[in-house]
Amino acid sequence: MKIQHVTVIGAGQMGSGIAQVAAEAGCQVNLYDLQEGFLEKGVGRIEKNLARQVEKGRLDEKEKLSILDRIHKFASLEKAVEETDIVIEAVVENMGVKTELFRQLDEACPSRTILASNTSSLPITEIAASTNRPEKVIGMHFMNPVPVMKLVEVIRGLATSDEVYHTVESLAKELGKTPVEVKDFPGFISNRVLMPMINEAIYAVYEGVAEPEAIDQVMKLGMNHPMGPLTLADFIGLDTCLYIMETLHEGFGDSKYRPCPLLRKYVKAGWTGRKAGRGFYIYES
Ligand code: NAI
Repeated sequence: MKIQHVTVIGAGQMGSGIAQVAAEAGCQVNLYDLQEGFLEKGVGRIEKNLARQVEKGRLDEKEKLSILDRIHKFASLEKAVEETDIVIEAVVENMGVKTELFRQLDEACPSRTILASNTSSLPITEIAASTNRPEKVIGMHFMNPVPVMKLVEVIRGLATSDEVYHTVESLAKELGKTPVEVKDFPGFISNRVLMPMINEAIYAVYEGVAEPEAIDQVMKLGMNHPMGPLTLADFIGLDTCLYIMETLHEGFGDSKYRPCPLLRKYVKAGWTGRKAGRGFYIYES
């Protein structure tokens, strides 16, 4: 099956990026979020990104407008998915929210529709079990910022069919990405390796070993990382980092994945990073 029509659920930092790259690749894209304001913000982010591409001479104004014309905002979930070949879900990293959404999607979508999740860490097999089409449920894990980052981890649930896997692999390539196949284990590969490093950096702040700036400097200058772990955590969102650590901790039952209490405290305070204007650093709006 060739994917021509994509529905993205959740117009936050990831959902808006996925909608942008799908529209750039020529797909018709429906975008749905819980509130009109979130949809407006998501499309505003896409407009800003595309305007920057025009300024840099990588895109002309006409192309920009036709990309934006391919993105359609929806306030009704049922209407958004009526004609779609694939749904890519990018809502909050919470199993309860995702399983309830997949149950609704299973009821509302045509039987051919593939249901993909952009989850960073949650088991695809468990998400799939909330539907009557587990063979059509798959993980499609984009990296942030989506328009820039090349990788898509493609995660097979226990029941995901080969046909669905190959369709999604081809779609990732059409979106200009490099798909990498990964089995369904908590955190997959990317976050199983990345998040414990970020969590350890937060423990170092918690224990007073060094200031955030110093920790980031060490990892940038010493390890050649383009961004320090605490800057990256703010960029990802500290709420998302906490959800991922909780998934690793619960999924493996190993105390080495225990989320740092300071991470919990920041999330409770609403200091969720760049998107909130404050995390380990303070950001001007
Ligand atoms: P975000 O907080 O920027 O956006 C989430 C959006 O989903 C919000 O606009 C919210 O209103 C909407 N939403 C929540 N529940 C909904 C529902 N039931 N129906 C429709 N919309 C709903 O979060 P972000 O960063 O875009 O993350 C989304 C997903 O992508 C999460 O699963 C996260 O783990 C994953 N992810 C995040 C990455 C990151 O660097 N932030 C990287 C890769 C994956």
